[in-house]
Amino acid sequence: MKKTIVLLPGDGIGPEVTRAGAGILEDTAREFGHQFDLLEYPVGGKAIDAAGAPLPAETLDACRNADAVLLGAVGGPRWDARPIGQRPESGLLELRQSLGLYVNLRPVCLLEPLRGISPLKTERAASIDLEIVRELAGGIYFGARGHERQDGVERAHDTESYSTAEIERIAQFAFGRAEARSQRVTSVDKANVLASSGLWRKTVNQLAGVYPRIELNHMYVDNAAMQLVLAPAQFDVVLTSNMFGDILSDAAAALVGSIGLVPSMSCGTGAPLFEPIHGSAPQLAGKDSANPIGAILSVTMLLREAFGLSIEAEWIEQALARVLERGVRTPDIAEPGSKVVGTSRFTEALRGEMQADLEPAERYGWGV
Ligand code: IPM
Ligand code: MG
Repeated sequence: MKKTIVLLPGDGIGPEVTRAGAGILEDTAREFGHQFDLLEYPVGGKAIDAAGAPLPAETLDACRNADAVLLGAVGGPRWDARPIGQRPESGLLELRQSLGLYVNLRPVCLLEPLRGISPLKTERAASIDLEIVRELAGGIYFGARGHERQDGVERAHDTESYSTAEIERIAQFAFGRAEARSQRVTSVDKANVLASSGLWRKTVNQLAGVYPRIELNHMYVDNAAMQLVLAPAQFDVVLTSNMFGDILSDAAAALVGSIGLVPSMSCGTGAPLFEPIHGSAPQLAGKDSANPIGAILSVTMLLREAFGLSIEAEWIEQALARVLERGVRTPDIAEPGSKVVGTSRFTEALRGEMQADLEPAERYGWGV
């Protein structure tokens, strides 16, 4: 298989974790006889410094022409003084919107070797296996906003706006995911307060008629935050808006041990984008101690979901499980007795473990 993958390392720990992901892609191509052309472009603060804009035209063009995009993270204190719309983050938002990526899928699952590091009691944590389906191209992130000063009073506003069509397309995706899982969708909104949530709930209810096998329930976002912590097993597919999905996914990630562990896929009309859900973690940047697992699992999601290469993805995931089982850990997921290593040593350990599995083709039935 021949594919073009655009790498957007971005800022902070982004380059370190993207490097880890790129190495895994190279190993996979070599081992399974694929050709992955990896092309690197600037985005975020890096792009502001190099080209004066967080999403230069060449970067967007390259992404438009790619088969998939792998992104690290954007943002950092260096660009914090810049106004909204000219910050590194707006490069990412513009990219998501320009590529028509209205779906953001964030699987949150307890990795078996890490069951001890969840802040939840073991039996509660063991049952976490959910997917957050976050609307990504609309809502308050993209609604009208303003900042004005009148009669000595400073005021700012943001608007959450959703159309029926925008809600339908993301809900359809969530119902589709649930059909392949345990047939349950929890739609999270704030329909007791927000008009946009009222339309959200009505639209999701109407669509549910098309999916009679799916058990749909609705939950207010404040209750959903509590239920995630109290009884995470009740969730399978969580369907929610851009803003609520952003917040709930960080909370859910903490429950499985670290925000450094969770990958994501964004898709829609253009090339799919894969990125760990964590930020640029400026305090860790350049220290070689960031957790690359979110980026590595973003690579396995890319292989599986964008290219249909599930055997390759499994080869990587099984090696990852063995490395974690041996107690090799980055600091954020260390336990007493762990062998604590940095980003590059962790990635080397994983790549070594992948190579140790000398005949993946035979083991996983590839090519048979
Ligand atoms: C995420 C991030 C982004 C978001 C930021 C960096 C714009 O927090 O992907 O979750 O809010 O979507
Ligand atoms: Mg976020």
